[in-house]
Amino acid sequence: MFVFFNGEFIEEEDCKISPYDRGFLFADGVYEVVKYTGKRFFEFDSHLMRLKTGLEFLKINFPGVNKLSEIGYELIKRNNLTGMQSILYIQITRGESNPREHLFPGKDTLPTILVNVKGFSNKQIEKEIGISAILTEDFRWSKCCIKTVSLLPNVLALQKARDNNASEAIFVRDGYITEGTHTNFFAVKDGCLLTPPLSDFILPGITRKIIIKLCREINFPVFEENISPFYLHTLDEFMIVSTKADVTPVVRIDDINNITQVRRIVKTCPGAFTLKIQRVLDDYINQ
Ligand code: PDD
Repeated sequence: MFVFFNGEFIEEEDCKISPYDRGFLFADGVYEVVKYTGKRFFEFDSHLMRLKTGLEFLKINFPGVNKLSEIGYELIKRNNLTGMQSILYIQITRGESNPREHLFPGKDTLPTILVNVKGFSNKQIEKEIGISAILTEDFRWSKCCIKTVSLLPNVLALQKARDNNASEAIFVRDGYITEGTHTNFFAVKDGCLLTPPLSDFILPGITRKIIIKLCREINFPVFEENISPFYLHTLDEFMIVSTKADVTPVVRIDDINNITQVRRIVKTCPGAFTLKIQRVLDDYINQ
């Protein structure tokens, strides 16, 4: 497979990242995951805007953001993925610090940039029958709105879900649901869509944004408001959404740490509203 690495298209095996790269040493970098539908990159501009926000927040000087779309299409072509659903991964780090040193390196240090693409198919069965999730304490930092590669709490929480026979962990911070480890969270109550509001504590997901837009277009009421885990059992439907998961129903939520009094919420099958939103999003992606 060809990748784009620091200005060149090279074979993946030839990509050598320095042991002094700050991405490796300090998780000092940002990333994006973009869907290629087989015809085009989905919402590339929104991903690039979020990437720019992250680079600015981290004060990484990377002037090449506007070239990334061209690089993405070139990778699709070189890897013979035209027409096939794929996932583009972009990672930009602050470059090297040799010797290791926390402070930013000198101004002439170049950021490290890696872009790769892989063929991808959705977990169709999960989209049809739904998944199980656990609730878990959100012990991430307080800038979850920045898409940094520093994902250890997400990794640990997702593994905890797996170890408890679930496919996603839903974070709870200060008495409210924030999001999943790699997804945003939605619920349905009395025909209305609910999702936690944008804040420093959730990633402003591109899929989340598009779903809210599409639902409002079809006059499906959407409320961006805090969701307390204590009321989860009173809600009708649950779903997680992301670039890779699209809209995936959640049919079981286990409160394995006794955050609430309800140990398990079970829905016998994905809800009608969830399936409708799923169809609306799929149609929009594939149009
Ligand atoms: N994750 N919340 C978190 C913490 C995420 O990591 C992601 C995406 C989302 C959904 O964002 P979007 O709709 O823009 O994909 C929400 C990506 C896919 C990942 O880390 O693989």
